[in-house]
Amino acid sequence: MKISILNGPNLNKLGTRNPDHYGTETLDDIEQLLTKTFPDDELIFFQSNLEGALVEAVQGLLESDTDGLLANFAGYSHSSVAIRDAVELLNIPFVEVHLSNIHARDEFREKTLTGAMADGIITGFGSYSYVLGVQALQHLMPE
Ligand code: DQA
Repeated sequence: MKISILNGPNLNKLGTRNPDHYGTETLDDIEQLLTKTFPDDELIFFQSNLEGALVEAVQGLLESDTDGLLANFAGYSHSSVAIRDAVELLNIPFVEVHLSNIHARDEFREKTLTGAMADGIITGFGSYSYVLGVQALQHLMPE
């Protein structure tokens, strides 16, 4: 399966960013973990700190042969109507992931606008959230 993996703002700083919440693995470590764990899937990685770039990445999926979307829109999950409206256009499975448990933190993290458009949300398992996210997509797209 061809899976697009989108990461939002500040996730390029993983490794040193708030290790209490996000651990010490870098985004590159997470991408390598996924590549190693799912050798039979085609994983396409993209990270941006820019809202518009993430909207365009989501829109790009509309004209592609991608089977599913795994995304951590990070801070934009809680605030971006534009990304929420973009993922609403998708007709492929979409699983949202978060490294930290967004329900055990600040109140403003409780709500995820983009997550409301997802088939499901995985939150709180660190880098393993991404592994579970790909498994959830596989579950949603039986071969
Ligand atoms: C995050 C949680 C968000 O609230 C935060 O803004 C992030 C990372 C996570 O993966 O735990 O940037 O999406």
